[in-house]
Amino acid sequence: MVTDTLELFKQQQRDMWSSFAPSAIFTTPVAANLVGFAGISSGQRVLDVGTGTGVVAITAARLGAHVCALDLTPELLEQAKEDAAIAGQQNIEWIEGDAENLPYPENSFDIVVSQFGHMFAPRADRVVQEIYRVLKPEGLFAFASWPPEHLMGRVFALVDSYADSATFITSSPELWGDPHVIIKRMENIFEMPFFERGVMLTPALSKSHRRLAFERSFGPLRQVMQSLASDPEKLTRLREVMENLIEPYCINNQCHQSYLMSRARVLK
Ligand SMILES: C[S@@+](CC[C@H](N)C(=O)[O-])C[C@H]1O[C@@H](n2cnc3c(N)ncnc32)[C@H](O)[C@@H]1O
Repeated sequence: MVTDTLELFKQQQRDMWSSFAPSAIFTTPVAANLVGFAGISSGQRVLDVGTGTGVVAITAARLGAHVCALDLTPELLEQAKEDAAIAGQQNIEWIEGDAENLPYPENSFDIVVSQFGHMFAPRADRVVQEIYRVLKPEGLFAFASWPPEHLMGRVFALVDSYADSATFITSSPELWGDPHVIIKRMENIFEMPFFERGVMLTPALSKSHRRLAFERSFGPLRQVMQSLASDPEKLTRLREVMENLIEPYCINNQCHQSYLMSRARVLK
């Protein structure tokens, strides 16, 4: 039963994220920040979890790292391979797989990175254990996540509030953006994490433009919208709520999406 529910959840995640590729243009600059924050350099063995279209993986490979990259969603991996070829980075090993069940032996990597990726796996304890397992002694885990108090975290909370009427299961991914939760989840097997914050900027001519872009490409919201297709009143109300949420973050034609970066070495 648990397995069935989890399998359903993972299938929903695959469907949900299959439309994400257009948003990767905005996560591309964040990838350079995360790669710098993680201190990735030539010759290191690096794993990118929840790679999507591979923006972090390709940035790391350009520096000479040996990169493996894993994601649940095959459509995004296809795009990743195309982008890697354009960037002249054909040595990345792409694998369709699950952050909760990493298909690598223990002690395989110097660095594991995840940019808005592992936070979507439903069982945080399982993901932490898997990342710990595949890291070498003194290996580093570095990731970017969306804090609950900023725009993306508030969008997740909004999506969660529609969970009863929608047909999907949610997992409160924004908890991975709370330093207190992160410390608790990593304690005893990782050193105390180091935190830094950044802002992802997305050009937006109006709050309606940003809402529409979210609707088209951001899976969790797209799925809620689809579930409300037969209820135009609720749909209109949700669009209003989204635009009210977005409005204060739209400054000078740019939507400000604050993120948290965390890094910690394993204790092995
Ligand atoms: C917001 S996108 C981020 C993609 C990419 N890292 C970036 O920054 O552009 C979230 C990604 O996490 C992936 N994902 C969600 N759950 C996952 C899981 N359990 N295991 C592996 N990947 C997962 C999705 O398929 C999607 O590609």
